Amino acid sequence: SKVPVLVTGGAGYIGSHAVLALKDSGWPVAIIDDLSNGSRIVVPGDVPFYEGNIADRSLVERILAEQKIGAIMHFAGSIVVPESVTNPLAYYGNNTVATHALISAAVAGGVRHILFSSTAAVYGAPETIPVDEDAAKAPINPYGASKLMTEWMLADCSAAYGFNYGALRYFNVSGADRELRSGQIGKGSTHLIKIAVEAATGKRDHVDVFGSDYPTPDGTCIRDYIHVSDLADAHVLALQRLIDAPDENLLLNCGYGRGLSVLEVLDALDRQLNEPIRREMKPRRAGDPPALVAGNARLLKALAWTPRFNDIETIVRDALEWERKLETIQAAT
Ligand code: UFG
Repeated sequence: SKVPVLVTGGAGYIGSHAVLALKDSGWPVAIIDDLSNGSRIVVPGDVPFYEGNIADRSLVERILAEQKIGAIMHFAGSIVVPESVTNPLAYYGNNTVATHALISAAVAGGVRHILFSSTAAVYGAPETIPVDEDAAKAPINPYGASKLMTEWMLADCSAAYGFNYGALRYFNVSGADRELRSGQIGKGSTHLIKIAVEAATGKRDHVDVFGSDYPTPDGTCIRDYIHVSDLADAHVLALQRLIDAPDENLLLNCGYGRGLSVLEVLDALDRQLNEPIRREMKPRRAGDPPALVAGNARLLKALAWTPRFNDIETIVRDALEWERKLETIQAAT
């Protein structure tokens, strides 16, 4: 019951790992990506690749027909929280409005299943940790709002047009493919582990620690870091579930359900290095909730998901090894 899958944003960080997970388990895959943030270097050579934007309806409809697409995994979008605050129109445009066009093409093309990249940012700064799926949706930035609006569109459209959907709310995605076929490229990185491995490989002088006066044990923010390949596995299982249960939708947090502080993450990376990374204590970054940890009981119940890399040592090691490989790739091109 495997159908051809269109992966939007398949040249991006998480999308490219989903492409690998799908291919590794025998699914036919095609990619659409406008390369605004993605890169061809993480796209396997034998995967049909369409360069373009998901808002280009005629292009998407052509791909759906050419590749006989039965399901879409939708990763394409903008993801930098502070940028969403200064340029909300770009976020509502690239995330919400572009997805409206994608759903329109999907409905016209008879796509039966859509799996969507949502985010823990839909919860804003939750009062209770871990946060579960039924908690109040109260985004504190346009990024989270743009993703929540897309969830609403999918809920209404699935009911009206007869496809089913899954929205996976990611916590802090990190690490890289164990075989180093992909990893984070990061033009202008903002994510902690990416910045830390850039410092570890001499591209930065130090890591800023944004806030050490939070109400947490060591004063720094707590997050639930999930390995990108475990997340990709969850997508494949979720897609299978959408196909097996066409009358049901999925709304699932994706995290391990355990929190680590900024300092604990930096300590884990230091243990892999000869010399520790320099840290500079800085004021809090705007819009950061003190703690964000996934309640993942629903994920564990809905899918036969067994995380393979639930361990911060593995996550930072894979991120570091990928960063070193990326240097050699970039030096060669
Ligand atoms: N941090 C630093 N120094 C840095 C970068 C980050 O101290 O150089 C801290 C942040 O302040 C935060 C933690 O590390 O406390 C994690 O920050 P990231 O930028 O790596 O990730 P976020 O938690 O801000 O963002 C993630 C996802 C978003 C999602 C958000 C939900 O990347 O897509 O969680 O809150 F919206």
